[in-house]
Amino acid sequence: MSVGGPSRQAALLPLLLAVVLPLSCSTISIDEARNELIKREKMARLGGQLVLKEEEEQANGKLMTFKKAEITEAMRTQRFPPSMHFFQAKKLIEESEVFHILKKMPKGAALHLHDFGMVDVDWLVKNVTYRPHCHICFTAKGTLWFKFAHPTPPTPSQEGCSKWILLEQYRKDLKNVTEFDNSLLKNFTLMTENPEMTYANQSAVWARFETIFTTITGLVHYAPVFRDYIFQGLEEFYLDNVIYLELRAKLSQVYELNGETHDEAWSVKTYKEVAEVFAKDHPDFLGLKLIYSDRRFKNVSVIKTSVKTAMALRTSFPTMVAGFDLVGHEDTGHTLYYYRDALLIPTLEGVKLPYFLHAGETDWQGTSIDDNLLDALILNSTRIGHGFALSKHPAVMEDLKKRDIPIEVCPISNQVLKLVTDLRIHPATAFMAVGYPMVISSDDPAFFGAKGLTHDFYEVFMGIGGMDADLRTLKQLATNSIKYSAMLPTEKKTAMKIWEKTWDNFIHDLIKK
Ligand SMILES: *[C@@H]1O[C@H](CO)[C@@H](O)[C@H](O)[C@H]1NC(C)=O
Ligand SMILES: *[C@@H]1O[C@H](CO)[C@@H](O)[C@H](O)[C@H]1NC(C)=O
Ligand SMILES: *[C@@H]1O[C@H](CO)[C@@H](O)[C@H](O)[C@H]1NC(C)=O
Ligand SMILES: *[C@@H]1O[C@H](CO)[C@@H](O)[C@H](O)[C@H]1NC(C)=O
Ligand SMILES: *[C@@H]1O[C@H](CO)[C@@H](O)[C@H](O)[C@H]1NC(C)=O
Ligand SMILES: *[C@@H]1O[C@H](CO)[C@@H](O)[C@H](O)[C@H]1NC(C)=O
Ligand SMILES: [Zn+2]
Repeated sequence: MSVGGPSRQAALLPLLLAVVLPLSCSTISIDEARNELIKREKMARLGGQLVLKEEEEQANGKLMTFKKAEITEAMRTQRFPPSMHFFQAKKLIEESEVFHILKKMPKGAALHLHDFGMVDVDWLVKNVTYRPHCHICFTAKGTLWFKFAHPTPPTPSQEGCSKWILLEQYRKDLKNVTEFDNSLLKNFTLMTENPEMTYANQSAVWARFETIFTTITGLVHYAPVFRDYIFQGLEEFYLDNVIYLELRAKLSQVYELNGETHDEAWSVKTYKEVAEVFAKDHPDFLGLKLIYSDRRFKNVSVIKTSVKTAMALRTSFPTMVAGFDLVGHEDTGHTLYYYRDALLIPTLEGVKLPYFLHAGETDWQGTSIDDNLLDALILNSTRIGHGFALSKHPAVMEDLKKRDIPIEVCPISNQVLKLVTDLRIHPATAFMAVGYPMVISSDDPAFFGAKGLTHDFYEVFMGIGGMDADLRTLKQLATNSIKYSAMLPTEKKTAMKIWEKTWDNFIHDLIKK
């Protein structure tokens, strides 16, 4: 076995000469047939139809040399990061030359992110929990809640929690603050040394995942932190060479130090303002849009209200609010079909509310949850969040492809949340092979120990795409992220211009390297 390229044919040739030649003269026709198949598959593949410029061809050669070397080495050692759990592969990945190239690559847009899974949790510990007036309480199960309040302590006390303690005072009384801060860090992510042991099944990992959101909620919904969190998130993605984001946002109440609270419109306005401030200092940054989201555990009457809220927000903030989605553990939530009366409200009222529905984030084939993919299609979802189960629905897949509706592939999320272990057999391998429209995103990178998009791009480029994925694949994925975004046509034009400029620089630097 070798890692492909011309050696593919070369390896077979002696065999053909030895076996076939003495019997007949069919060597030529076998080679022709093979080449024909190789060509067809190459054209079908994601990015296969792109024609690279001369500079890009040179850069591709360089990139593929690194890639081949890393895969050859992995085949020898039998240690291949995409086939390992990300928590154990992370260090190896970050040492990879390919990873460093991908980090510098202009990746376009991140289209599948959740509001509070964006920012490295180190910042939450080191910056946010050290701000004045931060209170903490402890539950019997060992989980934590936080709340900022002044001059009076936070009220009422959190159900099932100890009384509120001023964190500044608590730290003063501790023997070892570093140890405590490390325990906070563990509370804020899923990262652990032995994930297979810590998370025995999907329920266990989802339970911890949901707990993180409730643990940090009192931190990130404090108005000054809320603003800084957005800014920090933009900064992290910008440094990862991403120029635009779309966030699934719940827009829960943001509060002030004196207990005063703000509504959803205030939060949207704040997202807008912070993105504008950020763009002033970062001229190549294009901002963000929100996909208003509610949780798929609520009943249909609550979701009817949320759909109406989404419609109202989109009317008030047409350039900021792109549409609506339902989030949370799909397997244990309600089906899209259950929500049909809520989700049909915009159509019945003649109002446009684009959907960006999570669907098919499941391993349970043939269940009512697995059928969410059908309803996402019927409800004209603009994109499909994950679409992990799509290969089991050929009719849905055919129609989605006809309508050019992409899936949002988030490989590390799928692995950490236990849909798949070895990313070489992630279903997106087949989608990439047939050029199914897709974008790559990172879902909640902060909770997985990833940053920006690069770790997920690495998994896709090295593991899911296999040896056949090259610079064409990457270029297609980056341009797809702009094409399939909710940006307006004029915004997309600007985005493409900026992206092309940075792409050319990237290619240039890669050749010189
Ligand atoms: C936290 O970060 C902000 C900037 O985002 C900075 O102004 C502030 O001083 C930092 N606070 C602490 C306690 O580190
Ligand atoms: C505090 O805990 C950290 C981490 O467990 C440890 O490395 C350090 O030595 C401890 N410091 C003291 C003063 O005990
Ligand atoms: C969360 O922090 C608390 C308090 O330090 C600690 O007792 C608990 O073990 C931490 N939880 C995790 C999952 O590390
Ligand atoms: C899942 O794993 C948890 C933690 O190990 C365990 O307590 C629970 O019983 C498991 N759930 C099921 C349904 O097996
Ligand atoms: C739906 O849930 C809300 C909030 O939990 C509750 O107040 C309401 O009674 C429920 N409605 C129905 C029809 O079950
Ligand atoms: C989806 O789009 C089609 C074609 O534009 C339209 O006929 C149909 O009513 C839409 N469905 C919904 C649920 O809005
Ligand atoms: Zn998601």
